[in-house]
Amino acid sequence: MTDLLISRPEDGVLALRLNRPKARNALSIGLLGEIRAALDAARDDDSVRAVVLSGDETAFSAGADIKEMPSGGIPMWGQRDRLLAWKTIERFPKPLLAAVEGFALGGGCELCLLCDMVIASDTARFGQPEIRIGAFPGDGGTQRLPRAIGKSRALWMMMTGNTIDARTAAEWGLATERVPAGRALARAVDIARDITQMSPIAIGMIKEEVLMTYGKPLDESLSLERKLLLWQTEDHDEGIAAFTEKRKPVYKGR
Ligand code: HXC
Repeated sequence: MTDLLISRPEDGVLALRLNRPKARNALSIGLLGEIRAALDAARDDDSVRAVVLSGDETAFSAGADIKEMPSGGIPMWGQRDRLLAWKTIERFPKPLLAAVEGFALGGGCELCLLCDMVIASDTARFGQPEIRIGAFPGDGGTQRLPRAIGKSRALWMMMTGNTIDARTAAEWGLATERVPAGRALARAVDIARDITQMSPIAIGMIKEEVLMTYGKPLDESLSLERKLLLWQTEDHDEGIAAFTEKRKPVYKGR
């Protein structure tokens, strides 16, 4: 059985469900490879406008697969395929949403940090417990968590390994919104479907521009954003025309 279940819950929406329930959807190198392959294909497939990642009712993901750790040699965490998979997720240019029920720990929480929106059900628990196995959140957590929730809260999570619930995650800005138990996937698919109605070019530009803040100093990001203001697309013309003509726009992705 595959570790990643792929479906199309709505037109334009691709759903990827982590499927290692007995290991709390731990991110083995194999599972990360399947995510990478699915996202590579989704990136090049014009019929995919948004992707929703989910787990099961017990866990979104308990993080890196601790049992894959080798006893010696090159540390598993730095393994090439692992890093390439994380890079693919990080660079995925289309909207990526996380639907979280249960645990999102370690790399599972870091996966959420790479998603553009995080829908957390009342059962969700987020945490970076790596410190409890003598490690640190090395899949982007030390950089992205402080940006998401602030330095002091991030350090508290990383230094104690304590988890936060969905309410706190939403208050702190880690989760986009909180929904009742069992509703995270449906809500994320709803949002993804709304996004499919927008111009895919403009959506891609928003994501690219917002993510610049992670990779570049502010001055450089702002000047790049200003350069991007020079773009012209048929979708943009169509959006303005539809607004003035009081009709629904028909975006063609051009
Ligand atoms: C491998 C895991 C796992 C993981 C759980 N399992 N988490 N296997 N890697 N990360 C396995 C358990 O060993 C167990 O297998 C089965 O899943 C069920 O787990 P339980 O502990 O019995 O379930 P539960 O009581 O519901 O507790 C769930 C849990 C707990 C809170 C998620 O399992 C847990 O704390 N897991 C570890 C979380 C963690 O430390 N994540 C960070 C990993 S490091 P068996 O065979 O016994 O049934 C990381 C980044 C490292 O992500 C980067 C460093 C640079």
